[in-house]
Amino acid sequence: MSSITFAEFMRRALYDPTRGYYMTDREHFGKRGDFNTISAYGELFGQIMAGEFAALFRELESPSTFTIIELGPGNGDFARHVLTELHEHFNDVFQVVRYLCVEISPFLADKQRLRLEGFSDRVAWYNEVDKLPAWLTGVFFSNEFFDALPVHIVRQQPAVLNEVFVDENDGGPVFREAELSSARLREYWSRAGTTMQPGQLAEINLEAIDLLELIGARLKRGRVVTIDYGDLAANLYDNTRPQGTLRCFSHHSLNDEPLANIGEQDLTASVNFTSLMAYGRDFGLETVSFENLADHLTKKGMLDRAARELSRHSAEGPALEKSLALKQLFVPHGIAAHFKILLQEKK
Ligand SMILES: C[S@@+](CC[C@H](N)C(=O)[O-])C[C@H]1O[C@@H](n2cnc3c(N)ncnc32)[C@H](O)[C@@H]1O
Repeated sequence: MSSITFAEFMRRALYDPTRGYYMTDREHFGKRGDFNTISAYGELFGQIMAGEFAALFRELESPSTFTIIELGPGNGDFARHVLTELHEHFNDVFQVVRYLCVEISPFLADKQRLRLEGFSDRVAWYNEVDKLPAWLTGVFFSNEFFDALPVHIVRQQPAVLNEVFVDENDGGPVFREAELSSARLREYWSRAGTTMQPGQLAEINLEAIDLLELIGARLKRGRVVTIDYGDLAANLYDNTRPQGTLRCFSHHSLNDEPLANIGEQDLTASVNFTSLMAYGRDFGLETVSFENLADHLTKKGMLDRAARELSRHSAEGPALEKSLALKQLFVPHGIAAHFKILLQEKK
C-alpha cells in the first residue's frame, strides 16, 4: 500500500507528464471545456492590464527591455490581447517588450504558440520559473495560476494540527489523517495568524511560497500582479468553510470528489493572500495593493471602456455574444467580483 501527501496526489492528478489533467490533449477552457477564465469574456481585461503594464514601463523610466512574464498562460488569449493592445496603442512599449510564457504543459504551450503566431519574435517559452533568466525588469503576471498548484491539506484537531494523506488500497485511493509531513506546514500555519474550529480542514500551498521566492530572486525592478480566487487568511479559514476550499471542476460543474476521475477533472484551492504578502516581504516584494478585481478594474476605467465597446456593437449575432460576455465581466457579482488582485513591487 502506498501513502502520499494530498499535495503529491494533486501534482500527479494535474501534472503527471502522461496522464495529468493539464498535460493531456483536451479542451480545458471555454464552453466546450471544463471552466471559463476571465479572458474568455473578451479582450477588455487584457487591454486594461496592458494599459497598466505600459504605466509601469513609464514608472520604471522606460527601460531598454521590458519583460512581461506570464505564469500559466492557459490557451494564450490573455497574452494575445495584451500584445495586440501594446502594438496598437503603446508602441514605445511594444518595441522593447519581451513576453515570456512559463508553462508546465507542453500541450498548452503548443496551443499558446498557435495563438501567438503573429508575435513570435517577441515571445519565448519556459517550462519552469527556475529556468527564467535573472535580473528581469518588468512584471510577473498570473491569473488563476496559484490556485492550480498542488496543496497540502491539514485538519485542526483539538490539540494538534494533522495532515491529510492519500493511501492507495485495493478499492482505490482513500484519505487518511496523520501527523504533519513537514515542519514547514506548521510554520506556514503560524504565519497565517489565524485559528480553526476542531475538525476544520484547510489547504496549505507551499509551492506558491517556493515560486514566490524564485520570482523575488529574478525580478530586479517591477511588479508581481497576482489575480486569483482567494482571500486574507482570517476570511479564508473562518468557520464558514469547515471543509476548506478545495474544488473539482468537470464540464462546468462542481463536485467534491477529488479522489475520483483522476486526471479527468480540474482540482483547485483558493489562495491565501496573507501568506503571499507575508512571505513576499521576505523575498523583497512589498505589497502595493490588495483588493477585489472588480473594484480594481473599475478604478482603471473598465466601465467607461465597456460602455464604449457596447455602443459600437449591433444587437445581434457575434456582436451580441460579445456584448453579453462583456456584461458578465462587470455586472455586480459578475466574474470579476469573485477574484482578488494583489500588486507587489520590487524597487
Ligand atoms: C487554471 S489554468 C489558468 C490559465 C490562464 N492563466 C487563464 O487565466 O486562462 C493554470 C495554468 O497554469 C499552468 N501551470 C500550473 N502549474 C504550473 C507550473 N508549476 N509552472 C508553469 N505552469 C503551470 C497550467 O498548465 C495552466 O496553463
